[in-house]
Amino acid sequence: MTHAPLKVAVLASGRGSNLAALIAARDAGSLPVEFVLVGSDKASAGALLLAEAAGIPALALNPKDYPDRPGFDRALFARVAASGAELLVLAGFMRVIDGAVVAEWEGRAINIHPSLLPKYPGLHTHRRCLEAGDAEHGASVHFVTAELDGGPVVAQARIPVGAGDTEISLAERLLAEEHRLLPAVVGAIAEGRLRWNGAAMFDGQPLTTPLTLAQLS
Ligand code: GRF
Repeated sequence: MTHAPLKVAVLASGRGSNLAALIAARDAGSLPVEFVLVGSDKASAGALLLAEAAGIPALALNPKDYPDRPGFDRALFARVAASGAELLVLAGFMRVIDGAVVAEWEGRAINIHPSLLPKYPGLHTHRRCLEAGDAEHGASVHFVTAELDGGPVVAQARIPVGAGDTEISLAERLLAEEHRLLPAVVGAIAEGRLRWNGAAMFDGQPLTTPLTLAQLS
């Protein structure tokens, strides 16, 4: 029995390269999803142009139009809910979301973060990795909870840190891995392999360590 495509909304604040990777995977027939909304807090976000080019409803709300941060978050997430989304993907969405708003999406929202969480939650992860002299860097996909970059990590991709690496070279090399990891996780959710029942489950078992790309393929 073929599943109806999973309805997916994406929130992005910037260029949207992870969104582009998701759209490409869908177009290649390897991702059984329907994109129902791309939302942003920045009217100038490149992600909105990508959405429009792909025929996906695009929406920008301006935080300045709202009395406070929770008010903006409630408005944006109300539009996500109204889109019929079954999964929300934060892909380069650069806001800390109000805990009460996020709680309504527990188990239905994931985020990709450019570090090997729990290392380096927050910003400037590549720089912090270089400053620490880490031999490895990576990206993490996690279920979103009220704790910034703190939800259960479901998948990770690792890259070695080279002697000559800069923040830019590391970010570029890692982005290529992000573009493989995020579609693989969304696909596992769309196919019902990765689920949430108060905790992350994979193939019917509690997920205690992050999955690798190999396990997701
Ligand atoms: C990516 O490194 C992502 O991990 C982080 O934001 C960066 C930009 O993402 N959350 P994108 O190119 O806008 O998808």
